[in-house]
Formats: sequence, structure tokens, C-alpha cells
Amino acid sequence: MSLAAPEVTIVEVAPRDGFQVVKPFIPTVQKLAIIEALANCGFTRMEIGAFVAPKAIPQMADIGDILKAAKLPASMRVQALVPNRRGLDAALAAGVRDIGWVISVSESHNQNNVRRSVDESFRDLEAAWRELKPDVFLRFNLATSFDCPFEGRTPEAKVLDGIERVLGFVEATEIAICDTTGRAAPDHVGALFETAVKRYANDKITFAFHGHDTYNLGVANAIAAYQAGVRVMDGAAAGLGGCPFAPGASGNTASEDLVFAFEHMGIKTGIDMDRLLAAADLAQAVAPEQAAGRIRTVPRKRVLAGFGAQTKGIAA
Ligand code: COA
Ligand code: ZN
Repeated sequence: MSLAAPEVTIVEVAPRDGFQVVKPFIPTVQKLAIIEALANCGFTRMEIGAFVAPKAIPQMADIGDILKAAKLPASMRVQALVPNRRGLDAALAAGVRDIGWVISVSESHNQNNVRRSVDESFRDLEAAWRELKPDVFLRFNLATSFDCPFEGRTPEAKVLDGIERVLGFVEATEIAICDTTGRAAPDHVGALFETAVKRYANDKITFAFHGHDTYNLGVANAIAAYQAGVRVMDGAAAGLGGCPFAPGASGNTASEDLVFAFEHMGIKTGIDMDRLLAAADLAQAVAPEQAAGRIRTVPRKRVLAGFGAQTKGIAA
């Protein structure tokens, strides 16, 4: 496949969302091998880990070593998730410029995830952000935007309120509307983004979709987001992932499933599918029982036969 300029950007989040839920510690060298293989697939953005309390997520404890050792293309934007000021300071000190700050829409998930009220989390973010230089990019993750494991379906008004709160003190940001549990349906995803994109998007405020595939709706949800104007989607190689503080949530939508779906629709991702499948095999090896996604189960020759009108030799 040709690696034309992407029309949709897939942010590879396996090194953060994918690994965080794996219980046995994945040796740093193994993480590095997967990260470097993924970086070699053409991803322009990757979430490489999180600066969180090691007691909360032990798997992320080696983020500093990973950032020092990983051999990454200079053009790839490296993002790290932070839950608080301490994580932000550590990420900046390590040279990270794309900061993923997470706040949940629902009170109970925010408490469970970061042990703060939603108000406290917004206050922390506002206080931290007002002091920052403009070269730091905020990827604002609004978790449980569709469904909360404790409170059920999330009212749209609460999501819009979360967006407005961050826009009250941030001039430029990418707002990721997150389906933390994977329980959203495509009509819900489409409707929420239709509203949000029309109401708030401009050249400084953009939207992303972070989806999980728990109910096998991850690809359909990403397409619904795309149709509503979203051009940035999170995915995790081999469908690893899940929030340890969201019971019942399974992995992120597999990056290879997203790439296949978009390329098949003629929407360029800039990702080399062959390399991605190889990298996804490496990723699944860290937790084969947690790996998911469909495309890796299809004979590789058929997957690589081409996309859309270019498909050829499919019977081979
Ligand atoms: N990085 C590293 N360590 C941190 C930290 C950070 N960003 N923030 C706090 N800590 C340390 C503190 O120093 C303290 O250490 P100690 O026990 O050795 O003294 C300990 O963690 C607890 O600190 P405290 O401020 O009391 O935090 P808490 O216990 O209320 O936990 C969070 C709050 C946000 C730090 C924690 O819940 C967390 O890291 N959550 C991450 C959630 C996550 O990543 N979820 C998945 C992605 S959505
Ligand atoms: Zn997630």
C-alpha cells in the first residue's frame, strides 16, 4: 500500500492503555521492542505511557526509562498520560510535549480512577495549565463520555459541560471523547460528535475519539465519529487495553482493525499494514488472553491483497 498523507490519524495507544491492564510486569526491553516496531509502521503519534502513581498502575513505572531508551522517528509525536500536576511536571521534565490529561465525566469513575472529585480534577488542570508555555500541547481526555461502569449511560449535557469547562481556560486543545467501557453504540457516538464538532471545533479546538471494543462496536463507532467530522482516532495494536478502574471494560479498538476499515473505505491512514500486523503480533504476545481484534485472525495474504478498488488476488 502507498503511504500517502493520512486523512485520518490513528494514535497508537497500546504502550499506555494496552499495557496498563496487563498484570505481570512487562520487561522494559520487551516494551521497547514493541514500541519501536509500532513506531516503524508510520504512526505519527503514539501514547507511550503514563506518569501515574506506581501503586495505582505498576505497569507504567518504567516510563522514564522507556522515554530515554526508545529509538523513535524524530517526526513522531510522543504523548504521555498524566492524572495530576506531579505527573505533568515529570512528563515535561522527561521532554514530553503532548500531554494527555484525563478527567472522567462521571463522578464515580473519576473518584475510582484518580481519587479526586471531578471539580478537584478540573481545578488541578486549570491551575497547572495556566502556568505552562505555549509549546505544550494538551490532549484532553474526557473519560466515560458515553457510559460509566457505575452510573450507566452518560447524559450528553454533562459531556458538553466538561468540554466547556476545559475551554474556559485553554485556548487550543484536542478533546478526546472517550468510550471508556466500549459500551457506546454508533448512533450515540455520531450524535455526540455531531453536536460537539459543530458547536466547538475550529482551527485550535479539535476532537478525537478514544474507543474500546468490548461489545464489538469499536470500528463502527470510529466510523461514526469520522462521519461526524473527527479525524483523530485512538487504537491499540492487537486490541490490548482497558482501564483497570472501569470494571467490565476490555481492550481498545485494535489499530489494525481501524486501519483496515479506513483504508478499505479509501480513507488514508499512512500506516503500513504489513508492518502493523507484525508489530501487533509482538504486542499480543505480552498478554495473549487479553488480545483481541478481528483482522489478525484473517489469513495475512488476504488482508494484504489490497483495499477497496485495489483489491486483487483475493482468492489466492
Ligand atoms: N506519578 C508518580 N507518583 C505519584 C503521582 C504521579 N503522577 N502522583 C502521586 N504519586 C505518588 C505520591 O507521591 C504518593 O506516593 P507515596 O505513597 O510513596 O507517598 C502516592 O502516589 C499517592 O499519592 P496521592 O497524591 O495521595 O495520590 P492518590 O493515592 O490519591 O492517587 C493518583 C491519585 C491520581 C496519583 C492515582 O490514583 C493514579 O495515579 N491514578 C492513575 C489512574 C490511571 O492511570 N488510570 C488509567 C488511565 S484512564
Ligand atoms: Zn481507554
